[in-house]
Amino acid sequence: MATNGSASKQKGGKLLILPGDHIGPEVVHEALKILDIIEESTGAQFERDFDLCGGRSLDKHKDSVTEAVLKKSEEADAVFFGSAGGPEWGHSQPNPESGLLRIRLRMQIFANLRPCNFVSKSLVHRSPIKEEIIKGVDFMLIRENCGGAYYGNKIEEEDYGCDPCVSLIPPGKHLSHSLMLISIAISWEYKRSEIERVARVAGALAMQHDPPLPVWSADKANVLASSRVWRRIVHEVFDKEFPKVTLRDQLADSLAMLLITKPTAFNGIIVTDNTFGDILSDESGGLTGSLGLLPSASLAGAPAAPGSEPTQGRNNAGGVRGLYEPVHGSAPDISGKGLANPAAQVLSLAMMLRYSFNMHREADVVEEAVAKVLDSKEDGGLEVRTGDLGGRAGTREMSEAIQGEVRRLLKV
Ligand code: NAD
Ligand code: IPM
Ligand code: MN
Repeated sequence: MATNGSASKQKGGKLLILPGDHIGPEVVHEALKILDIIEESTGAQFERDFDLCGGRSLDKHKDSVTEAVLKKSEEADAVFFGSAGGPEWGHSQPNPESGLLRIRLRMQIFANLRPCNFVSKSLVHRSPIKEEIIKGVDFMLIRENCGGAYYGNKIEEEDYGCDPCVSLIPPGKHLSHSLMLISIAISWEYKRSEIERVARVAGALAMQHDPPLPVWSADKANVLASSRVWRRIVHEVFDKEFPKVTLRDQLADSLAMLLITKPTAFNGIIVTDNTFGDILSDESGGLTGSLGLLPSASLAGAPAAPGSEPTQGRNNAGGVRGLYEPVHGSAPDISGKGLANPAAQVLSLAMMLRYSFNMHREADVVEEAVAKVLDSKEDGGLEVRTGDLGGRAGTREMSEAIQGEVRRLLKV
């Protein structure tokens, strides 16, 4: 869903880079080479501060993220994040992944944008779904990112586990079993303010298109009270603030099925709760044939249309404060071998340029470069592809091909 923009004036800003674990640092390192080229071409300057989150932070600080890093993530214009986690850290608490969750909460990056489309149409046949069904799929999944079942003071015992909400249980307090039972009934909660703000991001993004994109709100209103409240409030926001946008409801479980049987029927925007969004966005990897291509942006407000300013979550660079990471994880099974596909991390960089730094043209260029590298020779592309896409290229070869295309398009 690229937007057209004019050449950017001198820009840049303050970046916090958290390379993560396993393939995280491998693909972050390659993506930053693209940023070097952009700096060279535009004169933009990005102050880069590297730090730890996840397993490597646990090793060094015995915590998945330190207070110093949390503070820096609040102060940065954007955070560029490599996936964290791995089997060597087991399931003990805090685990590596908890660092990412704490950063999301601290930065209040409540809207997680996860696009699902084919960067290159020559990859359509790689999808496990029949070409006539999947061709042309193009939706933006917006996952609520700071609430729902994800947050709270977890109760984890030998024979009992519970994810209650933090607002009801004081952190660190030992709970009696009866209180635990009460907390089960209230474990998955949403407040009006949390629903309204993410609904507004969906509405604002829909309105950036002419005609406005249709929006589906996915919930489990047939079972969960939090979903019924979600559904009612999303409708209130759209009726009042986005009357031109078509809003439909879809139960999240049937959406999971329909995304396989009729994926293009959802071309537009899907807005959903944290847990459903996590699961449905990995489904996007299944639909498109690889998780190695899917980027994401977690934002503290709705991105502004080119030429205007965001109304919420504005950073010092005039964009939206955000954290950018691929949908995929740290892929421990292929790490250290130079095999990871760097495209999702590079495409996350493009989202960062667009949303946090208003560098629309450069974002478009990066996406165009990735497409050209993946395109088949028959379509005039370079057909450089990593193993996850059925090719033989390694991380570096793919990255160098993308860098070459970015240089060519920016005339560096
Ligand atoms: P995963 O996404 O890491 O891997 C799933 C499969 O996809 C693996 O076969 C992997 O090799 C492949 N894959 C993923 N990214 C790829 C890429 N760029 N190129 C080529 N192939 C790629 O999921 P998992 O194995 O379930 O999780 C591994 C670890 O990552 C876990 O600890 C998990 O919690 C963590 N994780 C972290 C994040 C994050 O930090 N943002 C996101 C998801 C999972
Ligand atoms: C994601 C990941 C994270 C999530 C984990 C690593 C905490 O799966 O970004 O999709 O569940 O949000
Ligand atoms: Mn996930």
